[in-house]
Amino acid sequence: MQYRQIGATEITASAVGLGTWAMGGWMWGGCDDALAERAVQTSLDAGITLIDTAPIYGFGRSEETVGRAIRGRRRDSIILASKCGLYWDHAPLPPGVGEWHCFADDAGRTQTLEKYAVYRWLRPDILRRGVEDSLRRLKTDYIDVMQIHHVSDHTTAVSDAMGTLEDMRREGKIRAVGISNASRSQFDEYCEYGTLDVDQERYSLLDRKVERNGILEGCKEKNVSFFAYSPLENGLLTGRLDPERVFKRGDLRLGKPKFSKDNISKVNRALEAISEIRRGYNLEAGQFAAAWVLSRYDKSFVLCGARTPEHALSNASSGDAFISEGDMEAIDAILKDFDLLENQE
Ligand SMILES: NC(=O)c1ccc[n+]([C@@H]2O[C@H](COP(=O)([O-])OP(=O)(O)OC[C@H]3O[C@@H](n4cnc5c(N)ncnc54)[C@H](OP(=O)(O)O)[C@@H]3O)[C@@H](O)[C@H]2O)c1
Repeated sequence: MQYRQIGATEITASAVGLGTWAMGGWMWGGCDDALAERAVQTSLDAGITLIDTAPIYGFGRSEETVGRAIRGRRRDSIILASKCGLYWDHAPLPPGVGEWHCFADDAGRTQTLEKYAVYRWLRPDILRRGVEDSLRRLKTDYIDVMQIHHVSDHTTAVSDAMGTLEDMRREGKIRAVGISNASRSQFDEYCEYGTLDVDQERYSLLDRKVERNGILEGCKEKNVSFFAYSPLENGLLTGRLDPERVFKRGDLRLGKPKFSKDNISKVNRALEAISEIRRGYNLEAGQFAAAWVLSRYDKSFVLCGARTPEHALSNASSGDAFISEGDMEAIDAILKDFDLLENQE
């Protein structure tokens, strides 16, 4: 496992992080909490030190699971990354505040559309309350990396949002500051008002948006660590997704064209075509997809989602390989042949 520095901080974390979105159950068709706890413990035992969670993942459930799983471990051996600025429990909101942002769609893919309206709100007192709630759920007195989950809130100035996180850093409640789901101009604006340590964005073999919109370049220029989310494309890049898999009600993949039988088969065929290159690195398909992300930037981290010990253990073994430039070009040629490079985002 490689361990890398986070931004300009003194924090070092495993290049492979454990993503705990699915542990919240919401949008993933439920979750077995006991299994999820074991997945966290298995990850830690396998050398992972970075755990990424968020209040919105299951409306507190993911953070609570992580909090239970790390009980009894040395706190300073774990780098906890959580998020703020996405809420569900402040309604009714004052008029004009934030932006209602329901993740659920009209096709009934999620079960909780009626129960929870999710919105973005970065007002300083709301951010503070969010961080306090996370501390309580995680049962800790500091969070290593605090990231604004969605930076777009037109009612709060960036200087106020960033200033609040910088204040909390000075108070010792957080150690590093991050943002997520940003455009390049938002990234630049956040860098103006404080020290940005992390940007967390979607990035994978099949989703190269951050290469096109300048975010990855911005991280390199400004010494900001890059946390890649959904690096396995929600399981699609593991090569283990069965085209016949029936996703549970409430699973975000249910009904999505990307997870149709035809598309899963196509991606699996492309992964098979890449396997000759991959085997040279002695990695499974999912491990290779994660190693690919880590090879693009020496301050990148890859957040591999898992809710079972088996997946967690497999993903933890992604962190040692470096994929060569030549092999990356060959992989792109294969993905282009399958028409997968630009049409899966
Ligand atoms: N900042 C943001 O807005 C944002 C957005 C999305 C994600 N994230 C973060 O990034 C993390 C990772 O992203 P993600 O959870 O969307 O997806 P991901 O890592 O691309 O895929 C995770 C899913 O892939 C399957 N999987 C994982 N390891 C596997 C293995 N070894 N073999 C076979 N299947 C495997 C599992 O699906 P099954 O359990 O169904 O088998 C797992 O739930 C999240 O957990 C979260 O921490 C952040």
